[in-house]
Amino acid sequence: MLSLRTRLALAYLAVIVFVVAVTAFGAHWSLSRAVHGQLDAALLALAETEMAMLPRDTKQPATVHDPSRETTAPPSLVRLDRLVQIVNSDGHVVARSANLGEATLPAPAALLARLAAGETVFETLEGFGEEPVRMVSVPAPGHGPLLAVQVAGSLDDVNNVVGSASILFVVMGLALLLAVGTAGALLTRGAFQAIGEVVQQAHRIGEASMSERLPHPGTQDEIGRLVDTLNEMLSRLEQGFEAQRRFTADASHELRSPLSRLRTELEVALRRPRDAAAYVDALRSCMEEVERLTLLVEELLVLARIDAGQERGPVETVSLNELAEEAVRRLQPMARERQIEIVLAHSQPVTASVARGAASLVLANLLDNAVKFSVSGQRVTVDVASEGADAIVRVSDRGPGLRLDELPHLFERFYRGSTARSEQTSGVGLGLAISQAIVGSYGGRIDASNLPDGGAVFAIRLPRNV
Ligand SMILES: Nc1ncnc2c1ncn2[C@@H]1O[C@H](COP(=O)(O)OP(=O)(O)OP(=O)(O)O)[C@@H](O)[C@H]1O
Ligand SMILES: [Mg+2]
Repeated sequence: MLSLRTRLALAYLAVIVFVVAVTAFGAHWSLSRAVHGQLDAALLALAETEMAMLPRDTKQPATVHDPSRETTAPPSLVRLDRLVQIVNSDGHVVARSANLGEATLPAPAALLARLAAGETVFETLEGFGEEPVRMVSVPAPGHGPLLAVQVAGSLDDVNNVVGSASILFVVMGLALLLAVGTAGALLTRGAFQAIGEVVQQAHRIGEASMSERLPHPGTQDEIGRLVDTLNEMLSRLEQGFEAQRRFTADASHELRSPLSRLRTELEVALRRPRDAAAYVDALRSCMEEVERLTLLVEELLVLARIDAGQERGPVETVSLNELAEEAVRRLQPMARERQIEIVLAHSQPVTASVARGAASLVLANLLDNAVKFSVSGQRVTVDVASEGADAIVRVSDRGPGLRLDELPHLFERFYRGSTARSEQTSGVGLGLAISQAIVGSYGGRIDASNLPDGGAVFAIRLPRNV
């Protein structure tokens, strides 16, 4: 398979050769026609002049007006090199110019017949004399037995002109071919050089050098746009790699801490024999770590499935009011235990296009946070509403609220705010990241803000199903 560059060059060359050949051939053809036409016209004019001078009286001898005989007349350029002959109806030569010498112009029977029919005949005589000759035979009606005047002239000059012009056209064509070919080669070399640099740089960019970018040619043409697009793609890939790297590092860190705590607890418990109560304490503590590990692994699995696009269930029309009721019912035991009241604000029925399972997981995460970060005796409110094309579920609490400097990080994976860390609430910092990723995959988003009189509010916005 030929390279793109070779194929382009061949196609370009073929087009130029075709155009140059057609132009040169056309120019040669029209020049040849013009020069031959000129000779024919000159021969015909002389034949008609000669005919006009034929005697009307058939008894008088017909003569050819030969400049060499009429010595007093000025030299005639019209007659120079022209062979003139007058024939009668039986093909007998009646008169001829001196330059014919002993020769006669051919007057075969077929020609005589056409002349008798009143036809003017042009022909090229290849075998007459040393040079090819062009001849016109003009019928001369009304001159008794005289049939026609024949005038011939050498084609040598005409052929020389056409020959020289052909050479000139070929040379011009080759020069044109060379000039256009060189210009084309220079133009394409510039374009291919830019592509070559992009290819070289692309070879150098690897996982370790994801921050590098392809060199821009500085123009906004196809290559410039291609480089822009590839660089944008590299930026997205770099972000993806970075997120992946951070996630792996965070996940291994988060897994390592509970595992090493578990190991220490077990080592301490096994160091010497203890009574039953101490073993129960140790096992309970281990159980807490195992629960934390289970939660972490489960959330990591959900995130991995979201990243692989597998978490996205089939979209259906879901009543957000029903979904909110379900979520409240499920969280009620935990809320009661912490003496927190969950209130479902009465609002209009709202439906959204989303997968039921995914949406209820998001709601559970937000309610879990609201209950977890509230203090006993406080109230958590769930409110379903619609705003324009958005279906909204708001979960608000009267807890400590969100610190402004922490707001931009809340949805990051493994991010836990200062309240969560200081109060030692359970969790690994993945709930909001998972929820945001799920809602995002259905064309929505989660907004976090603070209530004016304290407490946090998380609003899930989904495309409303009207
Ligand atoms: N209702 C809330 N009030 C105050 N802070 C909150 C609230 N919800 C979330 N946050 C803050 O956002 C952080 C991230 O929340 P996220 O749900 O992702 O993690 P988590 O609840 O700590 O752990 P996980 O959800 O993985 O069990 C929390 O650690 C907390 O600092
Ligand atoms: Mg949470």
